Amino acid sequence: MAVINVGLAGRAYDVRIDGGLLGNFAQEAAKLFAKPVVPIVADKTVHGHWASKLEASLNAAGKTPAWFLVEPGESSKSWSQLQALTDWLLAQGVDRNDNVVALGGGVVGDLTGFACAILKRGCGFIQLPTTLLAQVDSSVGGKTAINTGAGKNLIGAFHQPSLVLADTDVLSTLPAREMQAGYAEVIKYGLLGDFAFFEWCEANGPKVLAGDTEALTYAIEQSVAAKARIVAEDETERSGRRALLNLGHTFGHALEAETGFGERLLHGEAVAIGMVLAAKYSARLGKLERQDAERITAAIKNAGMTAEVSKLGLGCDGAKLVDHMRHDKKATGGTVPFLLLNAIGEAYLDKTVELDDVAAFLNDELGAA
Ligand code: GLY
Repeated sequence: MAVINVGLAGRAYDVRIDGGLLGNFAQEAAKLFAKPVVPIVADKTVHGHWASKLEASLNAAGKTPAWFLVEPGESSKSWSQLQALTDWLLAQGVDRNDNVVALGGGVVGDLTGFACAILKRGCGFIQLPTTLLAQVDSSVGGKTAINTGAGKNLIGAFHQPSLVLADTDVLSTLPAREMQAGYAEVIKYGLLGDFAFFEWCEANGPKVLAGDTEALTYAIEQSVAAKARIVAEDETERSGRRALLNLGHTFGHALEAETGFGERLLHGEAVAIGMVLAAKYSARLGKLERQDAERITAAIKNAGMTAEVSKLGLGCDGAKLVDHMRHDKKATGGTVPFLLLNAIGEAYLDKTVELDDVAAFLNDELGAA
């Protein structure tokens, strides 16, 4: 088993990565449950696949799960679900010393984490991430949120989990498209700060995507270790360190906003194209070698993902995408911070990017079939 500690003073926690962790849940989390009933929030689809494993483990330890099920998809990160969940947690008698379990992908983790951040001013929670994206990114680092009519993740809190158990076995039921989307975030860690890991991804991507246990575990471990280091340095994204994790996200969020934050373009797919755009824009500014931008494009394509924004058939121009960026929650005082690249493995935060130039760049990219 790989164990990564997220070293936050007073709130440090482990991320454990291994096959079979759900079946061993009660032992892994034994010290975190004082009461006989364990509240678990789960995505309905994930519940269908994995509830019995968790239930058997808890029953063997003399505990009973109480389930709160949510519909899969972003629409569950809503005020109404937050209200229903917090009402349910209160009815379950959850108090500040308890831990609530989140079993699912980023939607369940974000909703549950936020509910736990505000329940009686904060109770504990345990992340059991069931998508590759959640295992390498959203379950670690304490960002929790819901969506509102004004945008995605606009209402939320930093609230760190007590424990994260990433069971690699659960990825066996994940659709290939979601594996690829999660893998984009894996490549991201190589691009932003670790050239050797990027090279490893180039060589081992197919194995990871095919579910090879050793390759998958290594990819998750390296990703979580990178994220844990960054979060420990800049938990609430103040110094610019944590902002590095947003590589590909400024372009990506604009694409998600344009496509409606749904099935048409998954978050990881948008990040993949966003990283290619960040690389190409870095090359346009003369910061990154053009051949490195091409190498990044090839890595995304080799993982089976769309790399070119022109292939999305958006039917909008660069100005429209830039307009979405102006409404990004990271935009301040009319400027939009961009994560760009000096080299593969060396990202930097640029707050001086001219949005008109980005729009012109995007027009070129949108037209380049
Ligand atoms: N997913 C970016 C972050 O956790 O900061």
